[in-house]
Amino acid sequence: MKQFFLIVLMLCVISFVSSSNSGEINILEPYTVHIIDWEIANLIVHVQSKDNDLGNHTMTIHDAFHWKFRRNFGETTEFIGNFYWMTLDNQVYQEVDFQVFNNDIADECGNKLSENHCYWFVTTVGFYFAKGSPSGWVLKYTWGN
Ligand SMILES: *[C@@H]1O[C@H](CO)[C@@H](O)[C@H](O)[C@H]1NC(C)=O
Repeated sequence: MKQFFLIVLMLCVISFVSSSNSGEINILEPYTVHIIDWEIANLIVHVQSKDNDLGNHTMTIHDAFHWKFRRNFGETTEFIGNFYWMTLDNQVYQEVDFQVFNNDIADECGNKLSENHCYWFVTTVGFYFAKGSPSGWVLKYTWGN
């Protein structure tokens, strides 16, 4: 009887947690992803996941933004970044899309239960990645490939 009660209680907790975030259970490792514009005078960055659209961020040289989330229970959390290198009169000069967060990036970033930081550093060459702190950059993508 006691076990039955515990099982019912657990099911209630699970359904409460999952209903609070459109069917997904976000209880796993916390991540902060940072996007840093290092060299582009007019950069538009659009980040979105399946259930979260962060909208367009218009950035100029040395602007940065970040967002925080937890991985979901199925570890299917993915964020896509659309990067638009704009001319000064707001025409798209170059455009690149890639996943700024997914399972592979999570593995590179780390999986501490406290806090994990992933950095994307945008230059006129492309997109450099670092984990933990903004140093030790590795070029992952270039514009126009
Ligand atoms: C974001 O900016 C891009 C590039 O200018 C544009 O194509 C897109 O429509 C914008 N999206 C929104 C929601 O404003």
